[in-house]
Amino acid sequence: MLRVAALSGLGGLLFGYDTGVISGASGFIADEFDLGDSALEVVVAAVLAGAIIGALLAGQLTGRFGRRTTILFASALFIVGAVGSALAQSAEMLIGARVLVGIAIGITSLAVPLYIGETAPARHRGAMITLFQLAITVGILVATLVDEAFSASEGWRWMLGLAVVPAIVQFGGMVTAPASPRWLVERGRVDEARAILGRLQPDEDLDGLMGEIQKDIATSTAGNLRDLLAPALRGVLIIGVTMAVVQQVTGINTVIYYDVNIFERAGIGDASDAIWAAVFIGLVNVLSTFIAIRFIDRIGRRPLLMLGLCGMIIGLFLIGLAFAWPGPESGGLISELAVLGMVVYIVSFAASLGPIVWVLIAELYPTRVRGPAMSVATMANWTANLIVALTFLTLLDELGEAETFWLYGLIAIASLLYVWRKVPETKGKTLEQLSIELGTVEDPKRDL
Ligand code: BGC
Repeated sequence: MLRVAALSGLGGLLFGYDTGVISGASGFIADEFDLGDSALEVVVAAVLAGAIIGALLAGQLTGRFGRRTTILFASALFIVGAVGSALAQSAEMLIGARVLVGIAIGITSLAVPLYIGETAPARHRGAMITLFQLAITVGILVATLVDEAFSASEGWRWMLGLAVVPAIVQFGGMVTAPASPRWLVERGRVDEARAILGRLQPDEDLDGLMGEIQKDIATSTAGNLRDLLAPALRGVLIIGVTMAVVQQVTGINTVIYYDVNIFERAGIGDASDAIWAAVFIGLVNVLSTFIAIRFIDRIGRRPLLMLGLCGMIIGLFLIGLAFAWPGPESGGLISELAVLGMVVYIVSFAASLGPIVWVLIAELYPTRVRGPAMSVATMANWTANLIVALTFLTLLDELGEAETFWLYGLIAIASLLYVWRKVPETKGKTLEQLSIELGTVEDPKRDL
């Protein structure tokens, strides 16, 4: 089971690396191809646009070809995209390669949590899916370090190309990984499913679990997009989409990707100090994810989410305050407050909203509609990510720095209320028990 999680976790590494690496490479790319601001924006946004497409495709791919094969396909795309980016001879070719990488990321962001969620035993499922988030944070950190290492030589091709290494490892590893037992049952391949489940979860009651899975599949509606709007599913679909959007519109990627910029604006030393400060933030992001790994299956998703959102609200308020503090005579206070605010914010996100959104999206839906439902939620996540990326700098200029972070803070307060009122607790139950509890497989006509 750990091998399964570690392998597919490489997908998280590629997700984090490939979204993160562009911030250090973009300046050199602009020089090489002589790009203006808006052309460069297209290069940077290509990955996010690709990810939206990938998330759309992944719902169908995971249903038709299976979860494992879909991850294999994404690994191949990662390889082609990395090599294509590294060798690009024109901006157009680079954009094309980055869209491919984006599609791979979008597919991965759906297929990996789905695959881990379907293969993990219920009582460790939260922690196992959180390994995916851990890998994302490691990927972001490695990207910052690689950018730093190659910036003196302006080696943007290396920065983008190095992603080929984990992609090849993932491809090789997934070839021998087992298929998802729940997908196999859905395809009528019950004996294979049973054998795999017995191997992956030797301590569980195999007959009981197989019975639950078969019943879940027999009693839920078929998995096409229209079925998602059926009353029984609509509620959980809205929860998944809302949480996916909340993860982005509370500002995480402004802090992760503009941290150098924020530190510079807050008056921290020179550019190189600011880069090391960014490495520090990346490290805090990685380490704090362990808080989630430790607690997500013990105290549960809801308490962790609510605590984390409280911390994020405090952090955003502090960052805003650092910018609003009057006059340079207050000296170091502005930058210390900014750093404190960012640390509080990142710790809180990494321990809650970061992993738990991926966990919830993978848990809320019954097997037959899991792919398409996750597709809608994951697309919403990437679309919100793109919108925040395209609006952040404008918001800073139009609203002001303090006000922008306070705005994210206000959204975080609304999100906290939403979680408190609407988000169900999902810890410790099998995916099939959850379907029954959430009412997503209710079908009175079929009493098995
Ligand atoms: C989010 C990413 C974010 C990352 C930060 C992920 O869960 O989906 O948008 O960059 O966490 O660690």
